[in-house]
Amino acid sequence: HAAQASQTDLMTITRFVLNEQSKHPEARGDFSILLSHIVLGCKFVCSAVNKAGLAKLIGLAGETNIQGEEQKKLDVLSNDVFIKALTSSGRTCILVSEEDEEAIFVEPSLQGRYIVVFDPLDGSSNIDCGVSIGTIFGIYMVKDKVKPTLDDVLQSGNAMLAAGYCMYGSSCMLVLSTGSGVNGFTLDPSLGEFILTHSDIKIPKKGKIYSVNEGNAKYWDGPTAKYVEKCKFPKDGSLSKSLRYVGSMVADVHRTLLYGGIFLYPGDKKSPNGKLRVLYEVFPMAFLMEKAGGQAFTGKQRALDLVPKKIHDRSPIFLGSYDDVEEVKALYAAEE
Ligand code: AHG
Ligand code: MN
Ligand code: MN
Ligand code: MN
Repeated sequence: HAAQASQTDLMTITRFVLNEQSKHPEARGDFSILLSHIVLGCKFVCSAVNKAGLAKLIGLAGETNIQGEEQKKLDVLSNDVFIKALTSSGRTCILVSEEDEEAIFVEPSLQGRYIVVFDPLDGSSNIDCGVSIGTIFGIYMVKDKVKPTLDDVLQSGNAMLAAGYCMYGSSCMLVLSTGSGVNGFTLDPSLGEFILTHSDIKIPKKGKIYSVNEGNAKYWDGPTAKYVEKCKFPKDGSLSKSLRYVGSMVADVHRTLLYGGIFLYPGDKKSPNGKLRVLYEVFPMAFLMEKAGGQAFTGKQRALDLVPKKIHDRSPIFLGSYDDVEEVKALYAAEE
């Protein structure tokens, strides 16, 4: 009978966040309202992604973004959806999106205390072939509510209050941390609700998978090249690691979080700061990894200690199982 009962005690993300909020008596519910609007955006993009092929939503939008990338129709659509959802929540004052060159300052009548940095559609190169893609977001509190400025955005990752991603794959999964622990929610399309399916996710201390674009190998620096070599030809008689690389950060990080291992987007001779953007890719994933017992390193420092100078700054990133990242840190330390 107990099994039957558990089916009716559905822990939705909304209930989960309200439970979290009840632990902070001073909270006025603003955070829960903000999250509910992010969840709405994710549901909308999930439905758009699932019918993209049918609704002629694949292919190029005919524009290029600040990153110099050709924007896909879904890049533009998801960006518009999240900007509208976040501004209409009345809880945000500054938005930073991968797809917008400048930060968006919300009009005073709709201004709230939160800043959201987000990648509305991550893994765009995988849209047209139906491979998993996602949305990544991070949340800061504004320092000066009266006059929010870019200084409120260019904060170190240590000031991030919450972070998460939604992966649009075989199922739609939202992984979130509001500061203590990491939890995974799976969208039940028949209910239109995200249900808690992975509670208190902890990443294995060491993994058997490494995840990097081997196509950049000829540009790597010494420590990265040595580390990847070690994954393939271990000297201590251990088994070599498997390579898994989807090319969507959300998919590669989600697999790393659940199975363990390491994800690398190193800097190289072509792009010394690598490709991934600090505010809305590196910080949120580093935040989640640390809350799940893993770690995130830039090649020089702990990723969350970075302070971005510009909103689209990039950084090399090595993240995942604690012990695996320790090995990368030792190789970079030996270089110094
Ligand atoms: P986006 O589609 O948001 O621009 O991000 C793409 C990123 C990230 O998802 C992925 O890890 C990386 O690009 C893959 O880059 P390479 O194709 O150079 O490996
Ligand atoms: Mn892009
Ligand atoms: Mn991205
Ligand atoms: Mn993107």
